[in-house]
Amino acid sequence: METLCKSGRASPSRGLAAGRALAVRREGVTSAEEKLSQTAAVAASRLRGRVPEPPTPGSATGMDGDDTITAEVCKEADVGDGELWEVMVAGYPVLLVRNKKEFRALGSKCPHHGAPLSKGVLKRERLRCPWHGACFNIKTGDIEEYPSLDCIPSFKVTVEDGKVFVTAKKKDLESSLRVKDTSKRCLLNRETMLLLGGGVAALVCAETLRQEGFTGRIIMVTKEKHVPYDKSKLSKEMNLKAEDIYLRKPEFLDAHGIEFWMEKEAVSVDFQKQKVCFMDGSSQKYNRLLIATGSHSSFLKVPGADLQNVCILQTPEDSSKILELATGKNLVIVGASFIGMEIAAFLSDKAGAISVVEKKEFPLQNALGPQVGGVAMKMLQNRGVKFYMKTELSELKGKDGKVAEAVLASGEKLPADVVVVGIGVFPNSAFLKGTSIARDDSGSILVDLRMQTNILNVFAAGDVVSFPVALLNGDRSSIHHQQVAEAHGHTAALNMLKKDKELHTVPFFWTTMVGKTIRYAGE
Ligand SMILES: Cc1cc2nc3c(=O)[nH]c(=O)nc-3n(C[C@H](O)[C@H](O)[C@H](O)COP(=O)(O)OP(=O)(O)OC[C@H]3O[C@@H](n4cnc5c(N)ncnc54)[C@H](O)[C@@H]3O)c2cc1C
Ligand code: FES
Repeated sequence: METLCKSGRASPSRGLAAGRALAVRREGVTSAEEKLSQTAAVAASRLRGRVPEPPTPGSATGMDGDDTITAEVCKEADVGDGELWEVMVAGYPVLLVRNKKEFRALGSKCPHHGAPLSKGVLKRERLRCPWHGACFNIKTGDIEEYPSLDCIPSFKVTVEDGKVFVTAKKKDLESSLRVKDTSKRCLLNRETMLLLGGGVAALVCAETLRQEGFTGRIIMVTKEKHVPYDKSKLSKEMNLKAEDIYLRKPEFLDAHGIEFWMEKEAVSVDFQKQKVCFMDGSSQKYNRLLIATGSHSSFLKVPGADLQNVCILQTPEDSSKILELATGKNLVIVGASFIGMEIAAFLSDKAGAISVVEKKEFPLQNALGPQVGGVAMKMLQNRGVKFYMKTELSELKGKDGKVAEAVLASGEKLPADVVVVGIGVFPNSAFLKGTSIARDDSGSILVDLRMQTNILNVFAAGDVVSFPVALLNGDRSSIHHQQVAEAHGHTAALNMLKKDKELHTVPFFWTTMVGKTIRYAGE
């Protein structure tokens, strides 16, 4: 893999965790990532000389009564210090790591989207996933940095007569992930943790509460009709059904004693009475409250913005609707940020014509600068996408109530059967208006490094907050990344349990366009 630093120089793929580094690499889109077969992974590793040939006939491989398998996987002398190998145990790929001479064996696939971990980066006792930066402890397999929600299994390694053996249970080899142990709900514990939001920040908070031994009531509330889902896929794989991107099934939440209330919108909070009121007239008291209501796409403010088929992308329903409306038709995308560019990339071989309208000179310019933005633009131009840069939309014209034409500030007119707006977001915090909770001018809730708001027993996490960012010398900022929202949820849970833990994470973002992934770490 090559790392393209901001200077554009190629260097080995190190140091994603330090400062801001940017990586562009060739890989399949997410669906292709997931389909990467074990065979291909092993074959690729073998090409790099990191998968040993199978042990010679007669080498020890056995299974005992409780399905425990022991297999010789390689010679001790073959593996250098700091190396990551993919080896086979009873036909299953296992990651073998040698660190400071000691061997560790772990699940070989990242539980997030299935990246081959033998291509990751090892730093001290942490292994960083090559695709979206999740970090695992190589001693335990525990997840230490999101976006993966789950851990990887770890297996016993022994070295005898210069040969390396891995011992594992068959069921652990079959599953590429390990869900952390959790406490059970106990009805005698009358405490209630109320979590507003059904996104990743609230989900990680709920799971962390159980993992950390909380036995009281956990209620997650969302105004949507879905359990938490992988939002990052909405713009990258628009042909998936909502159920295909669920992060947890309803049965999982049930089994962990997490009550999940759907289609229930919070409309006000009485912080003194510790009570939240909902749109349906009901209310719920809490002992500790988490506000993780996320952010919402900004709306266009031009004449015609309320015409039919002018869309934003926020939910699985929006994603399916845009795909259906744009197939074979004229699509105009307003805003060339990540979401706009991902939609243009995904629909480039499906829509009749795609026009992208953007104020800046290059796409993704604010986040990645003109150089990388220029490369992304060229990639999409090669697929027929037309860019209208350094200009603005001045009006949308309609026919029979539906959008028909987009008029630019220059006067140029673009045919438009569907318009998708991706021009930024605002925090979902309007229901807190008039309360004493501290928010900034944009409406983001102000929290400290413990995700604590200015109100006792009230925490906030994810896209809805503005928090002190270490890389900005502690200045507050809102960072709309999945991994950051998860880290917030985790830290909030620990502090809701009075475990006094500060947020410690390096923001990491990825975007995928026509088989290429751009990743960056930093603010
Ligand atoms: C199309 C798209 C693509 C993205 N791609 C990436 C990517 O590739 N990588 C990346 O790192 N990040 C990506 N992001 C950003 C990432 O999804 C967010 O940063 C993350 O989802 C934030 O999590 P959250 O839990 O704070 O909020 P959300 O996931 O937005 O969840 C908020 C929840 O609160 C609910 N809610 C809101 N108001 C109320 C209310 N009043 N009452 C009850 N419930 C309410 C919502 O229905 C929702 O369930 C993408 C976002 C979008 C929209
Ligand atoms: S596949 Fe490992 S973090 Fe996404």
